Amino acid sequence: MNKIFFVIVVLYVSIENAQLTQGYNHNSQQEWDLLIFTQQWPETVCKEWVHHKPSHTCVMPKKPDSWSIHGVWPTKLGTKGPGFCNRTWLFDPEQVRPIETQLIDRWTNIEGNTGEYSFWAHEWNKHGTCAAVLEPLNSELKYFKQGLTWGEKYGMSDILAKYGIVPDDEKLYTLTAINNAVTETLGINPSIQCRWEDGKEYLVEIRICFDKNLTLTNCDGIESVQDDGYGKILSNCNPTEGILYPHNKWPQKRIYVQLYKLVSWLQWFTL
Ligand SMILES: *[C@@H]1O[C@H](CO)[C@@H](O)[C@H](O)[C@H]1NC(C)=O
Ligand SMILES: *[C@@H]1O[C@H](CO)[C@@H](O)[C@H](O)[C@H]1NC(C)=O
Repeated sequence: MNKIFFVIVVLYVSIENAQLTQGYNHNSQQEWDLLIFTQQWPETVCKEWVHHKPSHTCVMPKKPDSWSIHGVWPTKLGTKGPGFCNRTWLFDPEQVRPIETQLIDRWTNIEGNTGEYSFWAHEWNKHGTCAAVLEPLNSELKYFKQGLTWGEKYGMSDILAKYGIVPDDEKLYTLTAINNAVTETLGINPSIQCRWEDGKEYLVEIRICFDKNLTLTNCDGIESVQDDGYGKILSNCNPTEGILYPHNKWPQKRIYVQLYKLVSWLQWFTL
């Protein structure tokens, strides 16, 4: 009896593992259909990061209340990835030296306490090496420059603000309103991502898609659709809940943390 149970467990574990690695098989499945360009809302990313571990710190983009680039992800419709298409072509900081300041400001590694280059290295090693089959993206410098160009041209702060969707610590926005701002401005369907923190729903990412000619295209087919009478929206957000889009506040909090540390240290010192 125990033996049978053991065999079942082993089988189950190997099937699970096979499924996990399938999406990112770096030998046979490198083809992809479109590029997802993802911008993220720093305050939500930071909330999640600090929630993981209260000692975590965040780094915010230079411009206040601005969106930050997450990545440019080659994607095969109906799946995730491919990823890690060339495991010997590892991120080299020297290659992006000419645009490093812009990357720090606009493609910010929000998760502090991680290596200086860890975020860009991850994006390049996992996604960039797959995007590099296209001539306009076939080097680290070209790949990251393209992200910066799109971030500039399709910045979500401006697109949302035109429709009255601006950062606010209290106000709730509907998924439909956020989606409409993007579809009406760009003429394509984006994907809108939320995160839940402390029982509230926060806007975290807006993804737009490009075909292999680097022309804007619908993101349809990249993932499941929210469709419960509110129209078809590519999203993981709950279409019946309000969505928070709070100000990027981390720098202020950081001062308090520093003050708190200083006070604790002084207390310890004077005892
Ligand atoms: C992987 O990257 C290396 C370093 O750039 C390159 O020389 C090699 O040709 C690449 N391999 C493939 C299969 O593209
Ligand atoms: C890209 O552009 C070329 C030439 O204009 C065209 O033939 C091709 O169909 C386009 N590909 C996509 C994916 O739109």
